[in-house]
Amino acid sequence: MERTFLAVKPDGVQRGLVGKIISRFESKGFKLVALKMLKVSRDLAEKHYGEHKERSFFPGLVQFITSDPVVAMVWEGKGVIAASRKIIGVTNPLNADNGTIRGEFGIDVGRNIIHGSDAPDTAEREISLWFSHDEITSWQPSVTSWVYEQPE
Ligand code: RTP
Ligand code: MG
Repeated sequence: MERTFLAVKPDGVQRGLVGKIISRFESKGFKLVALKMLKVSRDLAEKHYGEHKERSFFPGLVQFITSDPVVAMVWEGKGVIAASRKIIGVTNPLNADNGTIRGEFGIDVGRNIIHGSDAPDTAEREISLWFSHDEITSWQPSVTSWVYEQPE
């Protein structure tokens, strides 16, 4: 089953949106397999956003993501990487569709509430960057056959 890495950013935590955000992925039918709250180190932030190292917004982005706690999660399910990006909405909340998390809760690009992995290789990289192997749980929701026609 596919896995993705999601993190409620400091603005989402401060604004009390953690429960609402988790609820969206839960009610879709995806499975939460790892979760922790942490204050992100500079080293982790720079590694996580390494692809943006040369961009002008990089220092502000690292400053922001390390400024206050985040809630980091791994979610599992069929098509979870692309589906999560749809649930989250596009990067700039002002352009994000109504009904998406960013469309509903955000305004500024630097306060866009939540991170989600953008592809299978980034998801794998981010999961192993943020979580050790033994922090990821293996469990079988009893509702699986009510979510999937043919559970794998
Ligand atoms: P994320 O990685 O946080 O899930 O966001 P994303 O994929 O939608 O966007 P990405 O291009 O990866 O950018 C990472 C974060 O950098 C900030 N950003 N600022 N000022 C700007 O033009 C700008 N562009 C990006 C955003 O906070 C974005 O989430
Ligand atoms: Mg990104």
